[in-house]
Amino acid sequence: MPSLGDSIERRVEFVARLEAITGAVAGRTVLDLGCGRQALWSRAYATQGAHVVAVELDAARCAEAVARLAADPARGPGRVLGVVRGDGERLPIRDEAIAFVHCAQVLEHVASPPAFLAELRRVLSPAGCLMFIEHVRSEEPGLARWQDRLNGLNRRVARCNCNRRTLEGIRAAGFTITTIYHDRLRRVPPFVSPLIVGIASSSPPV
Ligand SMILES: C[S@@+](CC[C@H](N)C(=O)[O-])C[C@H]1O[C@@H](n2cnc3c(N)ncnc32)[C@H](O)[C@@H]1O
Repeated sequence: MPSLGDSIERRVEFVARLEAITGAVAGRTVLDLGCGRQALWSRAYATQGAHVVAVELDAARCAEAVARLAADPARGPGRVLGVVRGDGERLPIRDEAIAFVHCAQVLEHVASPPAFLAELRRVLSPAGCLMFIEHVRSEEPGLARWQDRLNGLNRRVARCNCNRRTLEGIRAAGFTITTIYHDRLRRVPPFVSPLIVGIASSSPPV
């Protein structure tokens, strides 16, 4: 996966490619979960016509996202309906209200991935999609051992986990993986380089 930096344009391109797989996001309700201080993904989905609800755990990041969006509203046919301070493990959203969840580099941070993923399934409509981009445990045993050794340090420095079995967790939560790419981030230490980029359906496997 190419580095997206802070670029909205690259994210818009990414969402446009995604639509070739998931269908258009225009008119759909998208949850940008863990939107961060810039809500860059919220902007990209709104540019493509989605109605976006952003949720962010951290109060300061949430306030910054609200201020940035007020100063420079998302451009495009869609809208960012709001940025809400909330925990993905206890979403203030009714059952099956969301068509599409975008979750980028958040599962590596959350306290309980099973609780978080159960909430995503609860708020997604039965034919809903989860798009995920996450740092994960390597499939190479040698590198995975290094990730285990360095995870404590990574948690102190980067405040996230580098050795989570996130793909297995998504499956265990009842999602069906429909698209998956195993990738490596460039220009980062090897123990934080394994990345998964994928799409899951909220329907259980048939
Ligand atoms: C690495 S940042 C990614 C930001 C954004 N998704 C992006 O890709 O630019 C992770 C974000 O997830 C948020 N986060 C962590 N745990 C969360 C939770 N349980 N619920 C909601 N947001 C959470 C963090 O506060 C942080 O802003």
